[in-house]
Amino acid sequence: MVSQIRFLMCAPDHYDVDYVINPWMEGNIHKSSRDRAVEQWNKLYNAIKNHAIVDLVAPEKGWPDMVFSANAGLILGENVVLSRFLHKERQGEEPYFQQWFENNGFNVYTLPKDLPFEGAGDALLDREGRWLWAGYGFRSELDSHPYLAKWLDIEVISLRLMDERFYHLDTCFCPLTNGYLLYYPGAFDSYSNRVIEMRVAPEKRIAIAEADAVNFACNAVNIESIVIMNKASDSLKSRLGEVGFQVIETPLTEFLKAGGAAKCLTLRVTEPIGEEIHANVSVESRVIRMEGHLLDAGLINRALDLIVEMGGSFQVLKFNLGEQRQSTSAAEVRVSAPSHEVMEEIISQLIDLGAVDLPQDERDSKLEPVLQAGVAPDDFYVSTIYPTEVRVNGEWLKVQNQRMDGAIAISQTPNGIVAKCKLLRDLEIGDKVVVDVLGIRTVRKAESREQRNSQEFSFMSSGVSSERRVELVVEQVAWELRKIKDSGGKVVVTAGPVVIHTGGGEHLSRLIREGYVQGLLGGNAIAVHDMEQNLLGTSLGVDMKRGVAVRGGHRHHLKVINTIRRFGSIAKAVEAGVVKSGIMYECVKNNIPFSLAGSIRDDGPLPDTQMNLILAQQEYSKIIEGADMILMLSSMLHSIGVGNMTPAGVKMVCVDINPAVVTKLSDRGSIESVGVVTDVGLFLSLLIQQLDKLTSPYVANVG
Ligand SMILES: NC(=O)c1ccc[n+]([C@@H]2O[C@H](COP(=O)([O-])OP(=O)(O)OC[C@H]3O[C@@H](n4cnc5c(N)ncnc54)[C@H](O)[C@@H]3O)[C@@H](O)[C@H]2O)c1
Repeated sequence: MVSQIRFLMCAPDHYDVDYVINPWMEGNIHKSSRDRAVEQWNKLYNAIKNHAIVDLVAPEKGWPDMVFSANAGLILGENVVLSRFLHKERQGEEPYFQQWFENNGFNVYTLPKDLPFEGAGDALLDREGRWLWAGYGFRSELDSHPYLAKWLDIEVISLRLMDERFYHLDTCFCPLTNGYLLYYPGAFDSYSNRVIEMRVAPEKRIAIAEADAVNFACNAVNIESIVIMNKASDSLKSRLGEVGFQVIETPLTEFLKAGGAAKCLTLRVTEPIGEEIHANVSVESRVIRMEGHLLDAGLINRALDLIVEMGGSFQVLKFNLGEQRQSTSAAEVRVSAPSHEVMEEIISQLIDLGAVDLPQDERDSKLEPVLQAGVAPDDFYVSTIYPTEVRVNGEWLKVQNQRMDGAIAISQTPNGIVAKCKLLRDLEIGDKVVVDVLGIRTVRKAESREQRNSQEFSFMSSGVSSERRVELVVEQVAWELRKIKDSGGKVVVTAGPVVIHTGGGEHLSRLIREGYVQGLLGGNAIAVHDMEQNLLGTSLGVDMKRGVAVRGGHRHHLKVINTIRRFGSIAKAVEAGVVKSGIMYECVKNNIPFSLAGSIRDDGPLPDTQMNLILAQQEYSKIIEGADMILMLSSMLHSIGVGNMTPAGVKMVCVDINPAVVTKLSDRGSIESVGVVTDVGLFLSLLIQQLDKLTSPYVANVG
């Protein structure tokens, strides 16, 4: 029985693999057999003809891919959106398909020039007519989706393709009768998979494995309960059989060489129109403006890459290139995202790159009140390390206490309105918190190539230094320490007990004594092992001079803790003359504030160790305030904590033996942080040597 369902096909008279525009074509140029292709196409044609009417469009010489008629356009009722091919190799097919549509009484809609959309290859109607699934990422642009919604008066659900083997939606996704869906989840990003799962109930989803996907099992023609495809595994056939579908296999291997199979070779001409279904598209667009050394500093590339990586698309509307080396450039970029949720994620990242959302020039930040102490409104903007401004009552306010992972709270004070970064736990009822991403901008230092090069930290910026460069980095750090000391600046050190175990204790003590350190942050262990070394000559029971374990040495650190507990504090033990040297001694003697944050593994603890973590965080952030540089020495735990509290602009040097830790700590997206993969004892001894050179009379005279 032949139903009233119609398909359009195009005979393979001129079919061949003539060029490479997808991974399947790679290595297959002129490798397909015309005879076999004709035979396979005829079999497909006959299989479909048994169940539907097939119309034909005349093949045209020079356009070998015309055989893939799915890409002619997208039809719904009387309307068709004509394809705009991405590649010039296929653009010549457009007028022939247009002609066929017009001759057959369709209203033909054409998209703006340079807005690619590849027809039913990238847009598939739910077989119940409820909505249109539309793909983007390789061939079709996200910005084409609102046109589809408007012209076809239907809801469009955007899905992002991630695997270039599945470059069209119909290569990995096939809606079936009764709301079933045959698809390959690995072809989509996680957001799109979530969207699919929200729309299609689990019992209706038939997710296939890669082995079936690469046989183009999703590139199938579904006519009621029949599913026609190149090839299916036994398990897929029985899975489809269980829910009432009959699989008809018809080999299409010659067409697979060009990246197409059954569905690509057909265009369904009669599509159901759901009643009560109307235009709806969740694609959102916004225009952002960026200014600065966009090319020099690579900002524009980073912004555009980020938009695409996060699932959006862009159009550069204006780009004014600064003509002189010193002049800045400006760009206006239209950003599109498949939903408001994704748009917010993209814009908040672009804000970090210094982008301004254009309409916000006239718009204030959105504020919502705190209703429960310590809990922010759901949609709160998460602060970053970058200096931030928010627009309140038409004025841009600088956010105080800048740090990452906080909320921005606005409050009325006797001196006017104040914006402050607050930790969640510090939010009070009545605080107004910035939500969404409107009316927020970050102020990035203009970094031209020259400015960056003139900065002393420049050569070590962006990344982790290799071993050979350690000495150079140490030299730079020594210069920097010297400069900060001479100008009365502030250096804070975060250190773990490895500093002592590696023999770095004496060097760090010297740095403190000689005025290079203005604050020390650590935990119980650094203080315990420092004093163990100074009281008993061991660190974790190992004799520091001979490098051998001392009998009973494992108890040493507990004895030290006990002694200090007897005195009540480290300072009192120093005053009593019990602790006579070392890091903690120098801190006490030189009035250098320190904070020891407790942790679950602490023995004792020392009376100075702050076991209330909220108070410990407060002590830490107080000591960090106003720092010019932070030296992070082999304590992952404390260094990560410190990194989160520190705004951009503070130089950070992270020293750790583990490259993964260094990368994590120094990867703040700001040029001021640098990682050094080396032994911390070695680092400190080299640093002392360098500082000695800088202060030697010879160097002073030369300087
Ligand atoms: N007796 C005690 O009370 C005791 C003992 C140990 C640790 N602790 C506590 O545990 C918490 C975490 O301690 P932590 O900071 O030692 O551990 P951590 O794991 O946070 O950091 C140690 C870091 O040192 C690095 N490292 C190891 N050897 C190195 C070397 N030779 N040179 C450079 N880097 C090197 C590691 O890669 C690691 O990243 C702290 O609160 C600390 O006080 C307590």
